[in-house]
Amino acid sequence: PVQYLPGKEPHAREKRLIFKNIDRVGYNPSIECYLENGGYEQLKKAFTMERSAITNEVKASGLRGRGGAGFPTGVKWGFIPPTNTKPVYLICNADESEPGTFKDRYIMHQDPHQLIEGMTIACFAVGAKLSYIYVREEFPYAAKILEKAIAEAHEKGFLGKNILGSGFDCEIYVHRGAGAYICGEETGLIESLEGKRPYPRIKPPYFPAALGLYMSPTIVNNVESLCHVKHIIEMGGAEYAKLGTPNNTGTRILCVSGDVQKPGYYEVEVGKVTMGEVINDLCGGLKPGRKLKAIIPGGSSSKVLRADEKYKLRDGREIGIMDIPMDFDTMAQCGTMAGSGGVIIMDDSRSMTWVINNLNAFYAHESCGQCTPCREGSLWMKKISDRIVGGDASPDDVDTLETVANQIEGKTICAFGEAASWPTQSFIKKFRDELKSDCKPDLTGKIVNEETLVA
Ligand code: NAI
Ligand code: SF4
Repeated sequence: PVQYLPGKEPHAREKRLIFKNIDRVGYNPSIECYLENGGYEQLKKAFTMERSAITNEVKASGLRGRGGAGFPTGVKWGFIPPTNTKPVYLICNADESEPGTFKDRYIMHQDPHQLIEGMTIACFAVGAKLSYIYVREEFPYAAKILEKAIAEAHEKGFLGKNILGSGFDCEIYVHRGAGAYICGEETGLIESLEGKRPYPRIKPPYFPAALGLYMSPTIVNNVESLCHVKHIIEMGGAEYAKLGTPNNTGTRILCVSGDVQKPGYYEVEVGKVTMGEVINDLCGGLKPGRKLKAIIPGGSSSKVLRADEKYKLRDGREIGIMDIPMDFDTMAQCGTMAGSGGVIIMDDSRSMTWVINNLNAFYAHESCGQCTPCREGSLWMKKISDRIVGGDASPDDVDTLETVANQIEGKTICAFGEAASWPTQSFIKKFRDELKSDCKPDLTGKIVNEETLVA
């Protein structure tokens, strides 16, 4: 039987595909260990299939990108122009930088061959002979572990020329970023890989699938998404699609942080657990004596949900925050997004002023500076929220902050503009009174003068 490290055992509500080997007793990142556990069998199976059949299985699986946007992976692969004279590239986006998100790092550290197998299958399907894993600078160990794993896969004939006698050649290279959040935006990543400053490109009209790396067709997929490919080949797309809920299939890894008893990662069937079950079952509930205040459900760029809100769904139901299923579509109906799976829980000890200031400091630091509304606006949002959190705000500073955020959204080259403005807009909309009150945080974001808090 599979055993896990003490305290790391999967919860009964979990369904582990991707994280099956994470924190497992006796499991290590070597190729020997991977092979002992059935590794590279799906690559062998993929080589017996037509390339188009692999893409069709991924389409049938309903897999939606786990990087954050939830775009259907098989559909994306299908965008590769059927006739083109240029090489096709596959890029694994391992620049996991979204605050609150920490799943891809575990995969790269503990089960790198799962990613390499998924990538090689994907390369075969889309006809990419050259592939890159773009690893963020802050993951030096991941880069080293992946380089070692790639060398091992080469040695055993799972990469390189004529892989397993299939006639297919494929190389994977690790490319390290230099510490910029914007390199996780796929066109910024591509510019960086080309050796340039990572200024995102305007899209539409040209998405990377048509014009990407070196202006060639390029598929950019997240680490977790590429790992799912191996399991789709193993199970078959239709069988995989039975996991989860319609249009929100499979499993996904939730990264839960903040004010809960057991923060951490949890792999669940998409849409089969609610927010309340995440907090109370998976994470063991809130801290003693505390009440839920707010949740950022899908990484820092998603809009905040307030604990006492009601959400009207398309089918007419009205649900509370604890009843929201953790899936892409319901989150969108609740006015936010499931994003990258980073769930940040905040209880009533937490200062919303501090949170918004913290987020604004992050976005001001990470704007690439290419477009004015984002470059200037993100800095002003930080400056104004510095004043609010420091108790130096003028009476209309919260309104000014909102105006600045509104001037960024929809007026920029890349989605960073929305990512930067949505938190501010949603926190002001839902916690305006608290932001305007003289309720103060300490350095860790806890409210110090609770009696002044405006409900
Ligand atoms: P997007 O919706 O613009 O695109 C999603 C994917 O679909 C891209 O690969 C894009 O090329 C492709 N696509 C969309 N429409 C297409 C078309 N018509 N033709 C061809 N391809 C098409 O979203 P984007 O900007 O890639 O991602 C935004 C999300 O990323 C945010 O929602 C956020 O949650 C997430 N994010 C995740 C981070 C992480 O660390 N995992 C960091 C920052 C943001
Ligand atoms: Fe750069 Fe911000 Fe413009 Fe994106 S929106 S291109 S991050 S300045």
